[in-house]
Amino acid sequence: MKKPSFLFLSFLTFSIIALKSSDTPYQDWKVYGGNNESNRFSSISQINTENVKNLEVAWEYHTGDATKTSQIQCNPIIVDGIMYATSPQIKVFALDAASGKEIWSFNPFKILGGENSWAGTNRGVTYWQSGDEKRVLFCAGSHLICLDAKTGEPITTFGEGGKIDMQKDLDYEKEKFLLVSNTPGVIYNDLIIMGMRLSEGLDAAPGHVRAYNVRTGKRAWIFHTIPHPGEFGYETWQKDSWEKNGGANCWAGMALDEKRGIVFVPTGSATYDFWGGHRKGTNLFANCIIALDAKTGKRIWHYQTVHHDMWDRDLPAPPTLITVTKNGKQVDAVAQITKHGYTFVLERATGKPVFPINEMPVPKSDLVGENSWATQPVPTLPEPYMRQIFLEKDINNLSPEYHEEILAKFKTLKSGGIWIPPSLQGHVHFPGMDGGGEWGGAGYDPQSQTLYVNANEMPWVITMKENPLLASVGQNQYNNYCGNCHGIDRKGNGSIPALLSLKDRLKKEEVLAILKNGKGAMPAFGHISEKNRTAIATYILDMKVSDNQSDKKEMEAESQLQPAYIMDGYKRFLTKDGYPAITPPWGTLNAIDMNTGKIKWKVPLGEFEELTKKGIPPTGTENYGGPVVTAGGLIFIAASADEKFRAFDKNTGKILFEYKLPAGGYATPATYQVNGKQYVVIACGGGKVRTKSGDSYVAFALK
Ligand code: HEC
Repeated sequence: MKKPSFLFLSFLTFSIIALKSSDTPYQDWKVYGGNNESNRFSSISQINTENVKNLEVAWEYHTGDATKTSQIQCNPIIVDGIMYATSPQIKVFALDAASGKEIWSFNPFKILGGENSWAGTNRGVTYWQSGDEKRVLFCAGSHLICLDAKTGEPITTFGEGGKIDMQKDLDYEKEKFLLVSNTPGVIYNDLIIMGMRLSEGLDAAPGHVRAYNVRTGKRAWIFHTIPHPGEFGYETWQKDSWEKNGGANCWAGMALDEKRGIVFVPTGSATYDFWGGHRKGTNLFANCIIALDAKTGKRIWHYQTVHHDMWDRDLPAPPTLITVTKNGKQVDAVAQITKHGYTFVLERATGKPVFPINEMPVPKSDLVGENSWATQPVPTLPEPYMRQIFLEKDINNLSPEYHEEILAKFKTLKSGGIWIPPSLQGHVHFPGMDGGGEWGGAGYDPQSQTLYVNANEMPWVITMKENPLLASVGQNQYNNYCGNCHGIDRKGNGSIPALLSLKDRLKKEEVLAILKNGKGAMPAFGHISEKNRTAIATYILDMKVSDNQSDKKEMEAESQLQPAYIMDGYKRFLTKDGYPAITPPWGTLNAIDMNTGKIKWKVPLGEFEELTKKGIPPTGTENYGGPVVTAGGLIFIAASADEKFRAFDKNTGKILFEYKLPAGGYATPATYQVNGKQYVVIACGGGKVRTKSGDSYVAFALK
């Protein structure tokens, strides 16, 4: 490093004093997403629109533990010049934030049992301080772990030897289920408030929100997101849902209004995600923004953004606390972005919509047993930050040779907007599975009251099929009772007839009669239940479960928890050469004026170099990870599949700085100041949207 001149030194001392004595908010990055308001805003302005072009790499730190497919989704935090972050294998480490030099590193799997070895991904850590006590909390596997921030050693008085198992104390009967918490919890006084990630399948646990005491690890409160008997919202489910259904979990992170003592909790959908025949009703508090008393966990208000979700429309990002000017008055509000391009803006104290929200009639599901909800909420403002519909005229025409094929496929599918119910025919799911908005969240500039949202515009295809597990109830019974004589392959042998193409000669009632009464050398099966006989008859007649409603009921009874239909896999709708089936843009950065609700500007985020070379304007790419907004007039964001880190002019959307990272920066940057110097740091973990994995954090600064 160059030696600083005397003049520079004295300037530096001056600015430190100036900083300490100033009360300017948003100087730190002590919390995931920048601060409790979750606005990703920094009031540090040393790097500005004029000088950002001179940014240089200040340091790069390698974690050394990337795999072929690993990612780093972490938004690091910086406290008193020390950066705390996580690695691809969820080691937690502390660095000197000015030099990138490691202070300590902790591998959680050393203190967790072997069955907890799945690293998954992690989005960061939580910092807590009381006097001289400084702690770092984070999750690995199903455990919440508490470390001494100075040494990186577990705080042994917390839980059991520094950890608590979040599978316990969930007011839930099962003992083992998938639970990880990859987004850091929120601190309110001595409490850490935690959400969690659960399975999307039938094995999902309920997504209750919990607060733990940071000193002891004891559970302080729980809020049942799937209400128990007698609790508010219980009647929005079926009677036994609280024991049988799962999901309605907060996996994306929360925001905290510290003054009011309110924590804002966004939740995901209930399971099974794509067919809700076992959870008739609106399903509170799935897909909700819930305002909870941070001290007690008591509900203050809630707002449901999707009723009886059938599309996996989890609220995908932490809400952002904002203040808007309405009729000349300042209104404290909470803004929640969604996967489907809407921003819900609600008054913080009451949950009242700031802009009117209409309940619009939506199409009905034709899947047997599904009771789709008749209306869905649609905000009149803010304007959606992505297209809301994919029509035939929007089919990608960049590669004319693939146009016909895409058009043919498009025509086999249902299409026409956000609320098309999942069906056996299949539908074009747009806005898609990964948004619209995603877990990176929105940035918000309190000075200009502008919300910055990066969005995906990727179409997906959702197709439902009969649940083969349910159909196989009959098959299992057949194999058990009939297979020895008629053959597992149903081809028979000699005197025993084959049972193939049976439906050409026998009706269902006739088969049922033979089963009940026997026939010649064929024994009677009156001793097995009528339900099972019906299941067997259905199987050997090759009848699809959906052919007959009463059969279906029998089958459901046979296997209570199985959905009648399942989704046939997460599928992007792509051209043969791998681009989205819709015309560009495929990824965008948007600025929304939160006073008027109008889009100020919209620009593509990222590009495919091979297309740009052909003279096609930048298309934007799928993007993961959020923006940072600064008082220096900038938005810092990576997120795009071209592995670039960019600075945009926050007033115009113009690109002012671009840098090719060692691997994709699918994470939210952080900015901070040490010894009078502003840094911007981004995790380069790659490993998404078909790009290589990486293992480093790169920090930028002016020379
Ligand atoms: C002990 C051997 C045996 C077992 C076990 C058995 N079957 Fe049979 N099954 C026969 C024989 C033999 C016939 C021919 C009867 C006749 O036509 O006289 C027959 C006939 C039938 C037929 C009429 C076929 C036709 O083409 O008319 C059906 C349907 C059938 N069986 C279904 C079943 C099912 C379902 C089971 C299990 C629940 C079962 N069988 C178990 C021996 C068996």
